[in-house]
Amino acid sequence: MSGKRFKLVPEMEGRVARWYARQRGTASQIEAWRRQASELTDGLPNGATVLEVAPGPGYLASEIARLGRFKVIGLDVSRTFVDIASAHARENGVDVEFRHGDVARMPFESGCFDLIICQAAFKNFAEPLRALDEMHRVLRAGGTAIIEDLNRDASNAEIDQGVRGQRLSGFNAFLTRFVLRTMLRRRAYTPAQLRDLVRESAFRTGDIRTQGIGVEVRLKKAGVNEALPYIPRWHHPAATRQPSTAARPAAES
Ligand SMILES: C[S@@+](CC[C@H](N)C(=O)[O-])C[C@H]1O[C@@H](n2cnc3c(N)ncnc32)[C@H](O)[C@@H]1O
Repeated sequence: MSGKRFKLVPEMEGRVARWYARQRGTASQIEAWRRQASELTDGLPNGATVLEVAPGPGYLASEIARLGRFKVIGLDVSRTFVDIASAHARENGVDVEFRHGDVARMPFESGCFDLIICQAAFKNFAEPLRALDEMHRVLRAGGTAIIEDLNRDASNAEIDQGVRGQRLSGFNAFLTRFVLRTMLRRRAYTPAQLRDLVRESAFRTGDIRTQGIGVEVRLKKAGVNEALPYIPRWHHPAATRQPSTAARPAAES
């Protein structure tokens, strides 16, 4: 669970990325991202720095930038998505820096983000524990990471309802439903699996909730005096067992 998972091949590049950008860019979804941009950044002070990990076409990052209160950066492993997202931001007159890179090895200094958001992408990561530890590293003390993804426990009926909400055309709705019910749900995590991963990560604890077909994980980086010592397992490939977890607080669910 915590080590490397097989990589999704091919990466979302070229035509696949352009098709995905069209499916996710309908007026009703952009409207939903606009609402989420306000909700997710609620309470963040002006001037805060926000990172969207794996933003794909970058619609959410652009809507956060449109609020005009934050510095916004996106990091994605797909060069096509970096180009699509940069063009979308430019066309909408908003300032977002989209960069190419891997969540497991982020090209950022430690402690430079107040908020990290990652939507519909965590299940795709080949090194999920390392991704969590990197999010922890680049967050400022007291900062928050919010991960939202498909819940592996979602039923077919819940998936169908979720896809109806995207208001796609007949064929695209059929394809999206099919991909969600098969490949993506098989790759997704249950809330219990996410709780285990979080417990192994530098965050140790998190708040995990489900809604509709989704699961949301909220992770807070402890302040300097609250932090417990942590040795990342991926840092020790030869290690066969975890550093003792007995003393760690259990993740909330
Ligand atoms: C299904 S798309 C989700 C895009 C967007 N967040 C959304 O909600 O529409 C998954 C994204 O994860 C990105 N991705 C996958 N592995 C990654 C990694 N290791 N580092 C950064 N981005 C990654 C893909 O390139 C793609 O943009």
